[in-house]
Amino acid sequence: MENNKIEEIKNLLASDKNSVTDIKNLNDLKVKYLGKKGIITELNSEIKNIPNEEKKEFGQKVNELRNIFNEFFDSKKQEFETILLNEKLNSEAIDISLPSTKVVTGAPNILEKLIEEVEEVFMSMGYDVVDGPEIEYDKYNFEMLNIPKGHPARDAQDTFYLEGEEILLRSQTSPVQVRTMLAGKGEVPIRMICPGKTYRRDDDDATHSHQFMQIEGLLVDKNISLSDLKGTIDIIMKKLFGNDVESRFRPSYYQFTEPSVEVDISCFNCKGKGCNICKKTGWITVAGAGIVHPNVLKMAGYDPEVWSGFAFGFGAERLAMLKYDINDLRVFYNTDLRESIIFDRKEAE
Ligand code: DAH
Repeated sequence: MENNKIEEIKNLLASDKNSVTDIKNLNDLKVKYLGKKGIITELNSEIKNIPNEEKKEFGQKVNELRNIFNEFFDSKKQEFETILLNEKLNSEAIDISLPSTKVVTGAPNILEKLIEEVEEVFMSMGYDVVDGPEIEYDKYNFEMLNIPKGHPARDAQDTFYLEGEEILLRSQTSPVQVRTMLAGKGEVPIRMICPGKTYRRDDDDATHSHQFMQIEGLLVDKNISLSDLKGTIDIIMKKLFGNDVESRFRPSYYQFTEPSVEVDISCFNCKGKGCNICKKTGWITVAGAGIVHPNVLKMAGYDPEVWSGFAFGFGAERLAMLKYDINDLRVFYNTDLRESIIFDRKEAE
């Protein structure tokens, strides 16, 4: 009798299994069989009414039923969970074939970019890139560059003084020539460039700033002539402004070079015909330069009878303004984009 009942329940369970279509059905079924008043739970409570000799077998059968149910329950639950997970994965999938939205990350400062370009060319010619202090002694900024106290050339380079008259913000990167020679202790050749900040007591306008950048250069070796300087300048200018750019020297005066020159390049914009960039002259001034003055060599410990050298100084902003067609120096130092409308990249034309 009890065996029949168990068989009946087994059959009922077998047909119930087929009707389970979702997790809710499955949980309902659990209540139906194993809940407080569930079919299998009730069978359990009938044990006490079974004659002793049949109790063991009955108990085993009930357990078997429970196991059948639990196995079914666990595997079905797993099945539903996998289905659910797959549905979720599909609905939340990211379509990586879609083009991404553009991320604006900013760009290198073009002044820095230009300086790096110049550094690379000089490094490829064996030059070292060196640094010097922005707070400088009068001695290096002027005196050892052959500009003694009271020299009228100091007027054009009036700067900011920190302590008395001996410590100042350097008005040029030329003192790094002196520092490099002193540190070299007579070693040759010296090939260095020094890009760096400089200061002058100037009122800011489109072409002047109380703070600006120069790129200094110095070469010391034997038998150095103006033609070495010309060749070097020519290479760097062609690299920056294109191969058809020519350079020329005009006589000039600096206290630390003799002879001194002003370096012009042929206008890369109008190719010499005359335009606004070259002020209708066909030429643009880009640097001061010359053959290192014997006094400067001597003061730095190099015998001018044996050694000679050339030096040059570019205005970094000036080069960047020419290269990128910027007509106001202040845009390099003004971080307010609303006021930087003057900035106009040549490549964008
Ligand atoms: N220091 C000069 C200036 O600020 C530029 C310069 C001229 C640098 C001639 C040099 C040079 O090295 O030889 O105007």
